[in-house]
Amino acid sequence: MCGIVGYIGDKNAVKAVIHGLHKLEYRGYDSVGIGVIEKNKVKIYKDKGRVKTLDNIVPKNLNTSLAIGHTRWATHGKPSKLNAHPQSDCKNEIAIVHNGIIENFGELKQILKKEGHNFKSETDSEVLAHLIEKFYGETKDLAKAVKITLDKINGTYGIVVISSKEPDKMIVARSSSPIIIGVGKGENFVASDATAVIKYTKKIIYIDDGEMAIVTKDNIDIFNKDNIRIDKKIESLNWSAKEVEKNGYPTFMLKEIYEQPKSFTNTLAGHIDLENGTSHLGGMQNLFPDNEIHNIKRIVIIGCGTSWHAGLMGEYYFENMTGLPTEVEYASEFRYRNPAIDSETFVIGISQSGETADTLAALREAKGKGAKVFGIVNVVGSTISREVDEGLYIHVGPEIGVASTKAFLSQVLALFLVSLYIGRKKRLSIEDGIKFGKQLQKIPSIIDEVLQSTQAQIKKIADKYCKYTNFLYLGRGFNFPVALEGALKLKEISYVHAEGYPAGEMKHGPIALIDKDFPTFFIAPNDNFFQKSISNIQEIKARNGKLILLTDDNAKVDEGLVDDIIRIPTIDEEFYPFIETIPVQLFAYYIAIKKNRDVDKPRNLAKSVTVE
Ligand code: M6R
Repeated sequence: MCGIVGYIGDKNAVKAVIHGLHKLEYRGYDSVGIGVIEKNKVKIYKDKGRVKTLDNIVPKNLNTSLAIGHTRWATHGKPSKLNAHPQSDCKNEIAIVHNGIIENFGELKQILKKEGHNFKSETDSEVLAHLIEKFYGETKDLAKAVKITLDKINGTYGIVVISSKEPDKMIVARSSSPIIIGVGKGENFVASDATAVIKYTKKIIYIDDGEMAIVTKDNIDIFNKDNIRIDKKIESLNWSAKEVEKNGYPTFMLKEIYEQPKSFTNTLAGHIDLENGTSHLGGMQNLFPDNEIHNIKRIVIIGCGTSWHAGLMGEYYFENMTGLPTEVEYASEFRYRNPAIDSETFVIGISQSGETADTLAALREAKGKGAKVFGIVNVVGSTISREVDEGLYIHVGPEIGVASTKAFLSQVLALFLVSLYIGRKKRLSIEDGIKFGKQLQKIPSIIDEVLQSTQAQIKKIADKYCKYTNFLYLGRGFNFPVALEGALKLKEISYVHAEGYPAGEMKHGPIALIDKDFPTFFIAPNDNFFQKSISNIQEIKARNGKLILLTDDNAKVDEGLVDDIIRIPTIDEEFYPFIETIPVQLFAYYIAIKKNRDVDKPRNLAKSVTVE
């Protein structure tokens, strides 16, 4: 939530920061601003709206060596020019950009107001600028003033601070909101994540909670929470700048849907061990050397949103292959309970961004209770990837569309691989393991086939159904999490109400909704549950419900029973989720396009939810 960028160096700082803001826009996009120091004065240009708004408000010839920028996802105070960042102090000598929430801002604001500080916005962030102003008055040292300020606040932050009094530096700090430093030659960058700087540098320093940095054009000094200077490793990023471009696709979401054969292959690469019918997972080997895997009595999977849906699929895989009791938890619920977790619980956290605040807090809670914690993460170097005991990167490359697509598929694959690994040590035969490994290797080409064979048809079906305002998504077994994911995709990018249900639950309530205006998207390949699904379809048709059926080539369906039918290749039932997801994503996508929605940046959402 909120993207922050900073640049200091020989290039045009304004250009570099605006470039970074465009790349971070997926983190929030209701208002935008940049702050520079020009002729020893802080100047701020900001407004409600997206990053392109800056084209109209930033002077064309503005060229400075230091700039900071912010793209906002509003928490405190509605989107407006005054509430946009940078926020500044009374004298306009200090400018800050902030991602996070200052929980005690109310009381601090009252105190500062009594001391004569003049507030301009409704934001929590503005107190930071005034506190730094106050302590700068006492210390005449920007870094010290920031440090004292941060000691006074409760909450979360990633911040960048500049001051006209010390125009050769940025002060950077983090607590629970991500911050990276991009290391250049004669220039340095700061950002919420590396996509903002990858065009300029692939050398990254990940700032950890409690750390603060003083960044000048030629130097980076990092201090730990006790204010002791520390050395940090410079990591090399293996993403290419091309991966954060649309490369000819109209949207990132469509590009990412079409990338799935490749992203699936990347996740799988190096992990299949056909000889032993298992998966090769270094993280699992490290976490459970020798026979320690037999100490696991229970598996708990934690995530939010789409990652939680992937987790549900994992539950089916783990129970089938390992026989271990498995539960899937919403991170935001798990962390506020007193969950029964111990050293015999194996906890798996799933997060594309690796920064989701609730997932991070839940995993910390589980670790604190003695569980072994494993992460399935996409963003390399993200907080979750660094805090878990071991993990598996899904390596799908940057996912920019706010609606998760390629990450979902690969999260499910990663869970399958972990489940295969444990399963083989428990009760799965080598023959079954080999069969699974071989089938997984075939999936990318089947995904490609589904993309080619269904796209045009789904576009037509979407045209037909785009007028409806409610949808029910149904599926049984492996198909149920796909139904949930389909409903979420439709909701978030088209703003059409949709509910996902296990098909067997329909008669316990949702059936009351069915009429000619309430269509159902039914996911039912010819698996073990197919006949039961057909009975549900009969029940829907008996109530005049419109029905789109997603099924496989071999399924025998009385086509008079359904309004539209989408066919995908017939495969083993464990693997259907990998290919059913494609039509479900495309359907949501084309409905949203038909409705003229901004699919990459749907309203009210942000890609990385770093507030609680
Ligand atoms: O980065 P994470 O996987 O932790 O994000 C979790 C959810 O915020 C995310 O999946 C969200 O539900 C997506 N917008 C779904 O498309």
